[in-house]
Amino acid sequence: MQVVIAESAQEVAQLGADHICRLIKNKPAAVLGLATGSTPIALYQELISRFQHGILSFSQVRSFNLDEYVGLEPDHPQSYRHFMNHQLFKHININLQNTHLPDGTGDPVLQAERYEAQIREAGGIDLQVLGLGRNGHIGFNEPCSSLGSATRIKTLTPETLRDNSRFFSSDEFQPTLAITMGIGTIHRARKALLLATGKAKAEAVKQMVEGPLSASCPASALQMHPHAVVVVDPEAGALLTHHDYYHRVRAETDLLAMEHYQ
Ligand code: GLP
Repeated sequence: MQVVIAESAQEVAQLGADHICRLIKNKPAAVLGLATGSTPIALYQELISRFQHGILSFSQVRSFNLDEYVGLEPDHPQSYRHFMNHQLFKHININLQNTHLPDGTGDPVLQAERYEAQIREAGGIDLQVLGLGRNGHIGFNEPCSSLGSATRIKTLTPETLRDNSRFFSSDEFQPTLAITMGIGTIHRARKALLLATGKAKAEAVKQMVEGPLSASCPASALQMHPHAVVVVDPEAGALLTHHDYYHRVRAETDLLAMEHYQ
């Protein structure tokens, strides 16, 4: 796991976008795994800006999102499909037919199986973007999720429901179930890129990076991923113990990359 403590939330977004740019430059028909939540919004703005400046094209890219609420139609303002269309897809040249989210309507068991099969048929995910729940969840894999799980239905914890209630008005139906890629699905992505910002995430970041590998903190499963990169801002990284080491690794990695491109 590579841990990068960026200087600011803005730099987290820029470094995240650098990873995606490099991938698409090398593989224009890349398969991207995408995430929702507040954290990736700055990343998506950065990608939109690079697209508008002609640095990046999504014309051949295919995407799979981590999760979707059960019971919300795709055009519901709180659905993750709606979020993705508005935060990213409608601003770039991705073909909407190449963008996938689990279908929150219909038979969720069948939908989950179908989604897993679609990912396989696409050749697997090249790079999976991840946010981090305060309770250590990735996607909607809540604490105690199987570390080998595939796409399936999850019951959301009271903490997650509370955290996400800010997006719903008081009289609005807030789903308590979601279809989410499993931790096994995420593990099969060739690269995992987790972004976390703000002090509310500091404890979860600490557990994920330096805590034990445990289903109590589902994100700690990234410790087993062969190519996981965690990019945090100083607030989210505040409780990490090995700051100096992470900074040194970053400096050396940058140096190696420079030598490589010279
Ligand atoms: C939701 C999503 C997660 C996301 C998390 C944190 O629960 N299912 O994928 O990582 O929220 O969101 P935020 O970035 O808003 O803190």
